[in-house]
Amino acid sequence: MSESAHDSSPEMIEPAVVPPRDGRIVILTGAGISKESGLDTFRDADGIWSKVRIEDVATPEAFARDPEKVHAFYNMRRALNKTRKILPNFAHAALSHLEAAWPGEVLIVTQNVDTLHEQAGSKNLLHMHGVHAKARCNFCENVVDWSGDMSTGDECAGCGRAGGMRPHVVWFGEMPLEMDRISWALSNCDLFISIGTSGNVYPAAGFVAMIRRNGTAHTVELNLEPSAGASMFEESHYGPASQIVPAYVKGLLAGA
Ligand code: APR
Repeated sequence: MSESAHDSSPEMIEPAVVPPRDGRIVILTGAGISKESGLDTFRDADGIWSKVRIEDVATPEAFARDPEKVHAFYNMRRALNKTRKILPNFAHAALSHLEAAWPGEVLIVTQNVDTLHEQAGSKNLLHMHGVHAKARCNFCENVVDWSGDMSTGDECAGCGRAGGMRPHVVWFGEMPLEMDRISWALSNCDLFISIGTSGNVYPAAGFVAMIRRNGTAHTVELNLEPSAGASMFEESHYGPASQIVPAYVKGLLAGA
């Protein structure tokens, strides 16, 4: 079955398939879900990667070559997020409501390093690309909360050594976090929903193909526009996340 629609600002979207009431739902989110909260995406025309080069700030090689430049980039993003007063939007709120109201399990797997899902109340959540507001020591792997600037002079609270603190985010060329739990969840879900991601970065971009190969779950894309992997999804709805996610969630709960 293939269903695709442009739902600009619907009250309710009737899902093509509603899983059994005790069914497991896995939701993959990307930068698009946080766009209407005021955070930049990466690959849209005005996105972060149109302003800085990935090779300069988001690889282990960049950090080894010029750690202060990498720190400056993340310090700037951390500071911006504080001054702009970024809050969860209706899409984050709808997913939190779904987790509370759905009789089965709802798991959010996010590529986002913001904490808007938690702020909206989501509990069952995996940050596969890490979290902006945490730091990790390259020497001892100790992870701590971090809200201010970071520099090469900072000492690790775990091992006491300086020079190893880095943002607790996954850079290009590094293995995403929580992959064992994510793989299990993808293999055992009844519904897979991808929201606000361009489908360009693996392994997340490959989740839908993996699920289609297994043939276990219905697959849905909710995005502003068709992603790179759009043809892989059995159902899709396009529009701003703050409108289509609450409308889709409403339909899902109405059909449960
Ligand atoms: N509502 C829904 N979708 C939106 C909205 C919106 N208001 N605004 C933009 N989008 C969509 C865009 O159309 C695009 O398809 O969100 C997607 C954002 O794509 P990317 O910028 O590529 O972000 P993402 O897919 O999360 O990137 C994956 O790449 O650089 C890395 O580590 C970074 O986690 C990130 C990963």
